[in-house]
Amino acid sequence: MNPEESLVLHRDLHRRYPEITHGIGIDLFDRTGKRYLDGSSGALVANLGHGRADIAAAMAEQAREVAYAHTLTFTTRALEDMAWIVNELLADQFRWYTYPTSGGSEAIETAVKLARHVQMLRGQPGRHRILSFRPSYHGNSLGALAVSGDPVRKRPYEPLLSPSFVHAPPISEECAGVGLDGCCPCLANVSATLQESGPDSFAAVILEPVTGSSRSGFVPHAGFFQGLVDLAHKTGLLVIADEVMTGFGRTGRMLGSDHHGLRPDMFTAAKGLSGGYAPMGAVVVGEPLYRELQDAPAPFLNGFTYSGNPVSVRVAGKALQILRDEHLVERSRAMGERLAAGLQDLQQRYAIIRRIRGRGLMQGLLLEGRPGLAARIVQRALDTGLILYLGHGEAEGGDAEHILIGPPLVIDEAGLDRLLALLGGALRFVQTY
Ligand SMILES: Cc1ncc(COP(=O)(O)O)c(C=O)c1O
Repeated sequence: MNPEESLVLHRDLHRRYPEITHGIGIDLFDRTGKRYLDGSSGALVANLGHGRADIAAAMAEQAREVAYAHTLTFTTRALEDMAWIVNELLADQFRWYTYPTSGGSEAIETAVKLARHVQMLRGQPGRHRILSFRPSYHGNSLGALAVSGDPVRKRPYEPLLSPSFVHAPPISEECAGVGLDGCCPCLANVSATLQESGPDSFAAVILEPVTGSSRSGFVPHAGFFQGLVDLAHKTGLLVIADEVMTGFGRTGRMLGSDHHGLRPDMFTAAKGLSGGYAPMGAVVVGEPLYRELQDAPAPFLNGFTYSGNPVSVRVAGKALQILRDEHLVERSRAMGERLAAGLQDLQQRYAIIRRIRGRGLMQGLLLEGRPGLAARIVQRALDTGLILYLGHGEAEGGDAEHILIGPPLVIDEAGLDRLLALLGGALRFVQTY
């Protein structure tokens, strides 16, 4: 689309955006007929692939039945069913309860407010701080941006962001791990960060179990998550897992937290929850916390006009059914192993790849620290028909140039081979020129 002919305030007013007309499976097509293999499911969203008639039918049926009923007054079958299937998929020894939102940032802010609400119920009104990590990305609304450890995205808005959000230094990729004393330098950094502001002033800690766009596929080392949960609970903090990108199958397990053998007190979800067929997010709360909320004298003061929108939650319920019935979590694991092996082959051929990291169909390429390298690869791939997700982290520690690869979970072997061939072409081009 020529910028001169558009009245849309696009993200970049000087860029020509190809106009997408339709999608089928792992591919998108633009108005000129060009095919793009969606190697990143957009922003790791389109987990079920594009153009699904089964989801379209569920949406249409829901829109015909009822498209809006305010959750201040009503519930709907679609909302109730979605919460049941979330609980079923988590298959835990206790129940999980779903608070619907319209996306990841809303879910993050809701989780932060919920943590604060619980601390007030516990008689701890001084607990207002939230601990997260550098680098991290938790969303773009002001609250979610404040949670994020992302100096570049935050810089222009710094005066608008609350100082209640405190960030621990990066979790080391080279850490030898948690020792017999249950600690490691990374956990010691967390303790020191809490000590600086006073541990009693913190309501919660937020962590991505497998890091998304700020650190493409980084997985905290063995024992870290457990150590963090132990430290948090000992110090009175709630643990929130940000599963917006990792949740519901992306990493080859139902939740990213499952790779650490842990369930948090609550987690956020979005993207894969509806596979992008409708704006959708959620905060999912474990039964112990739910009981505390149930006993509260006052309800949780929060809510959005589109929370629990019947069409969105119907889509989410249908998407989760498909995830279950088509065994897409297992598929993500198997295809993820094949993708990782293919990426390792590419690493042998292209020295600009420093590291491959991730789980399931969420794989990151950490590149040489040459500024702009990742962007060049992403652009070349797009030109030749492959969509990749450009990471953005902090240059500190040389972790700034990276790319996230995360095709729809429905991808098959032939699709992966095509993805790897296109990626190899982009790497060859950038390494050569
Ligand atoms: C880990 C994580 N948390 C939160 C968000 C924010 O979600 P949304 O863009 O739906 O507001 C994102 C978005 O990319 C994310 O990757």
